[in-house]
Amino acid sequence: MCGIVGYIGGSDAKEILLRGLEKLEYRGYDSAGIAVAGEEGVSLFKSKGRIADLRSIVDESIEAQTGIGHTRWATHGVPNVKNAHPHQDVSGRFTLVHNGVIENYEKLSREELADVQLVSDTDTEIIVQLIAKLVFEGMTTEEAFAETLAMLHGSYAIAVIDEEEPDTIYVAKNKSPLLVGLGKGFNVIASDAMAMLQVTDRFVELHDGEMVIVTKENVQIRKITGEAVSREAYKAELDASDIEKGTYPHYMLKEIDEQPAVLRKIIQAYQDENGKLSIDQETLEAINRADRIYVIAAGTSYHAGLVGKEYFEKLAGVPTEVHISSEFGYNMPLLSEKPLFVFISQSGETADSRQVLVKIKELGYPSLTVTNVPGSTLSREADHTVLLHAGPEIAVASTKAYTAQVAVLAILAALAAGEKGNEIGFDLVQELGIAANAVQTMIVRKEEMEGLSFDFLELSRNAFFIGRGLDYFVSLEGALKLKEISYIQAEGFAGGELKHGTIALIEEGTPVFALATQEAVSPNIRGNVKEVGARGAKSCIISMEGIEEEGDRIVIPAVHPMLTPLVSVIPLQLISYYAALHRGCDVDKPRNLAKSVTVE
Ligand code: F6R
Repeated sequence: MCGIVGYIGGSDAKEILLRGLEKLEYRGYDSAGIAVAGEEGVSLFKSKGRIADLRSIVDESIEAQTGIGHTRWATHGVPNVKNAHPHQDVSGRFTLVHNGVIENYEKLSREELADVQLVSDTDTEIIVQLIAKLVFEGMTTEEAFAETLAMLHGSYAIAVIDEEEPDTIYVAKNKSPLLVGLGKGFNVIASDAMAMLQVTDRFVELHDGEMVIVTKENVQIRKITGEAVSREAYKAELDASDIEKGTYPHYMLKEIDEQPAVLRKIIQAYQDENGKLSIDQETLEAINRADRIYVIAAGTSYHAGLVGKEYFEKLAGVPTEVHISSEFGYNMPLLSEKPLFVFISQSGETADSRQVLVKIKELGYPSLTVTNVPGSTLSREADHTVLLHAGPEIAVASTKAYTAQVAVLAILAALAAGEKGNEIGFDLVQELGIAANAVQTMIVRKEEMEGLSFDFLELSRNAFFIGRGLDYFVSLEGALKLKEISYIQAEGFAGGELKHGTIALIEEGTPVFALATQEAVSPNIRGNVKEVGARGAKSCIISMEGIEEEGDRIVIPAVHPMLTPLVSVIPLQLISYYAALHRGCDVDKPRNLAKSVTVE
């Protein structure tokens, strides 16, 4: 969380920084700031709230060609101007932005900065105060920067400017994402390539434990320990238009609408020239060598992982466990002899998942990351990567990444089955195509979903989602979507579990969304609907053509029973979207959240 940018070159730094921060706002949006260095020295602008609030206080008349910026998702210290970045040392000579968490900041503050009056409540400020202290004790800025980095424990992407050297930005990275962008007569830095696509599409990756001295003509990378590093630049595959909203009111709606195209793109991406599903042999062998798969993920990706477990077990015959990443590292189950760890992560940056990856690598186990972001940390650090091909997902609430994850997991499982010589019993390419068409049919039904959202949720303070089997996993995702963007308390339950406690919460008019797309358990879930109905609940049954019954409010087109999660989730996404819209919530940037969760 948090995003940083930096620019050094010949153009108006403040505009480039502000535009960059607008693109990074998905990483955090409770306060923001920029600092620019020009002839007048360093000018600092910070505000609580969004980048638009920051923009309104930036002095347009200032001319500066060097600067750094930050958008914040608060960890240490409440969101206010004092805690917003950039932070400065007491003298005001050094100015710094930071994404990450410094774990030993209290110790460093006590032991190294006892005589310095800290201004903010953040873990960040000590970094800039330490640099200044070391410089005033006689070190050069570069030496002081390296010395300070060596003292820090934790994660960071840092950029620092020294008022006395406005032609240099000092940069460092450890466990937080950071890229250097290259231009002609300018260079930039950013937490994410999207922020700087406005000026360049050529980027250099940074690795943990590296620092960089950036000037407008030069980028010098070295390890914090001193050795020089040389690394080729790559061209970002993103197009600036991929990250625009176009005519859509919200990214979330755009991304919901993109799902049929994403599914078709995935089918294409994983087909060989003969139209057969294919993937690199090493990845396939890694799956088939495993006696058990451990899926590690968080949030929506965890929900996709639950669906994936069904695929790995039922199609490929590999026993699979799905774990919440933040729990796994501290509560590791007994592992099998030949495990494969599959990390599912849209961003590829989730710190909770990464800490598991670090641990299992230390134990010598193989790993595979399923992610939307090539070059992301989880992708770089795992042995194998499988891409989602969903295109940038900007709305904080994940939609197209979920359907992409489910589709890619189905493909992986089917390929693993094929490699073992097992028949899965259906043509997955064809069935995914049918599912993509069904998704298309569902996204056209927006007006109907808006009406249902209004009928069921307008006056509700809570809602329940129930299902059995695959439908249960979709109910968890439906509940997460609704609660995170509309703030309606929503829970997903296994239908049969309700009567073991939760049914006590059902009262007159409580909305219950019941998924009934699985023929084998459809009668049971319908029985659960009767139980809650007898206690006053208002139920919306989501079923599928062929097994629908009179009175079902949403009937999705018929698709292969294993692929229903791709389709039944669409009405839930849309209903959540409209519930949030009607409540006046900020759909794309719900309170307290950030898109990329880079703190544990
Ligand atoms: C919810 C949502 C989150 C993410 C979770 C993991 O809509 O987007 O629950 O799924 O933070 O993020 P990734 O997939 O980037 O690891």
